[in-house]
Amino acid sequence: MALIGKNIEFAAGLLRQNQLVAIPTETVYGLAGNALNDRAVASIFEVKQRPFFDPLILHVAGIDQVEAYALWHDERLKRLAEAIWPGPLTVLLPKKGNVPDLVTAGSELVAIRIPDQALTLELLKLLDFPLAAPSANPFGYISPTSAYHVDKQLGEKISYILNGGECRVGLESTIVGVEAGELCVYRLGGLSVDDIARITGPVKLMLNLSGDPKAPGQLKSHYAPRKRIFLEKEGLQFPEQDTIVGYLSFGKENEALKHTPNITYNLSESGDLKEASANLFKYLRLLDESAAHYIVTDFLPDEGLGMAINDRLRRAMAR
Ligand code: TXA
Ligand code: MG
Repeated sequence: MALIGKNIEFAAGLLRQNQLVAIPTETVYGLAGNALNDRAVASIFEVKQRPFFDPLILHVAGIDQVEAYALWHDERLKRLAEAIWPGPLTVLLPKKGNVPDLVTAGSELVAIRIPDQALTLELLKLLDFPLAAPSANPFGYISPTSAYHVDKQLGEKISYILNGGECRVGLESTIVGVEAGELCVYRLGGLSVDDIARITGPVKLMLNLSGDPKAPGQLKSHYAPRKRIFLEKEGLQFPEQDTIVGYLSFGKENEALKHTPNITYNLSESGDLKEASANLFKYLRLLDESAAHYIVTDFLPDEGLGMAINDRLRRAMAR
């Protein structure tokens, strides 16, 4: 069990000693450490059991701090960041020499964002270094959207969790960069592609579903519960006797399910994609921890935040 509280000064003190603190953001909870200190960064990888080839995102308090660590090489990215930050957007920029190679996994690009969470923004303002913070879950498992989720999985390994309540967005940030002059989205997330395109003009999707991706957040199997997940049409044909089906639904209830002993969590009864995003990881966890033998779900409408939700479902289903 870690200490859980809202003491920003205490959190800042630990971080200055190069210890790790779990922090709330609007997307998911992060496992934060001093991004400029190799020992702190190394312990992030160790606690998460994360492979060193998977780079970390730098979190800063203000857009003026970006230039201390990276170059604004493309006007569109800057315009996008100015419009969205603080918010669920991460930009990939050419890094400066002071960013440790451990943070970027040897890449010349660094990922940076300003999270939209009051406690964490105050904390970042107290510090004179940026925070490297991956999602605060063991590598490959479902990301945490509450202090309780973090405590359950990493509580033994960290000393403090800054408690900001439940994450408002619930999906990781959308990662955007530039390649061959084109604006590219590398990870779908809490900022929809439509919202980006409205600000920047055309964007290209560079979403990798392979086992050896450029952006490792794009690993084919990721965000995965321990239980198998099936699509509605695969999983419900002939349930064996005594099978308990865990159902992750969206919108109106499915009649067929009323006949099986089941556990249902509805992402949003009214069919609201924002509400569904905020509930996704919480409900996947609840189903994973429930008596259900397996989980059944269906893809949501492939538009707006539905695209990011479907992306997470696809990766959660992959083995
Ligand atoms: O919403 C979020 O982004 C959350 C919160 C805590 O801020 N963080 C998060 O971090 O999702 P993480 O470590 O779980 O995912 C970071 C992903 C990496 O897996 C990789 O895909 C991409 O960001 N990334 C980071 N640095 C990169 C770089 N230099 N080049 C390419 N991709 C990078
Ligand atoms: Mg993650």
